[in-house]
Amino acid sequence: MGELTVRPATPADVPAIAAIYGHSVINATASFEVVPPEESEMARRMKILTDGGFPYLVVEREGEVLGYGYAGPYHARAGYRNTVEDTIYLAEKARGQGVGGFLLRSLIDAATQLGFRQMIAVIGDSNHHASIRLHRAAGFEQVGLLKDAGYKHGQWLDVVLMQRVLGPGASVPPDSPPLR
Ligand SMILES: CC(C)(COP(=O)(O)OP(=O)(O)OC[C@H]1O[C@@H](n2cnc3c(N)ncnc32)[C@H](O)[C@@H]1OP(=O)(O)O)[C@@H](O)C(=O)NCCC(=O)NCCS
Repeated sequence: MGELTVRPATPADVPAIAAIYGHSVINATASFEVVPPEESEMARRMKILTDGGFPYLVVEREGEVLGYGYAGPYHARAGYRNTVEDTIYLAEKARGQGVGGFLLRSLIDAATQLGFRQMIAVIGDSNHHASIRLHRAAGFEQVGLLKDAGYKHGQWLDVVLMQRVLGPGASVPPDSPPLR
């Protein structure tokens, strides 16, 4: 099998990304979205993140995009600006082979280099062992559990909150300029 590589996503990756995400939206509960977004909507979402200076990566093998991940704002309000939320989606055929771990570690490195201090995973739902184990292996700890916060595919779904420190974390002031 060819080597895995990670690189920044470009608009040319949108069709592959939209197909990977759309499959999960239809078939799984990791995303609480229920209608697969159009490619134009996925492109719009990508542009907001990349224009905002957030890392958006794809993982590929032999030129084929196997998955994508980004670290976007956890919340929009300015006080949260040192904290990002990660998102990772792989094509079905690429799962269970360590590809997600490789991509998540790359995303953690990219977010750390950009000066972010905390990364949060918002995981649907508590039975999503692959995602929970993926994040635990990358240094995340569970910090919360929202009971029955979602409903999709005929079932109530918990949300597992996991968190990881990036770089020096809270041991020193943020790189971003103080607001006041
Ligand atoms: C969740 C996802 C990103 C994990 O990536 P992956 O490449 O399949 O995971 P890895 O092979 O790197 O394995 C990560 C860990 O999960 C475990 N794991 C993988 N698939 C699993 C499964 N189906 N059930 C239980 N554990 C599983 C692995 O054993 C490994 O744990 P370990 O390090 O303790 O041994 C991937 O499966 C995926 O894209 N799923 C669909 C989209 C999704 O749910 N995204 C997450 C949104 S929160």
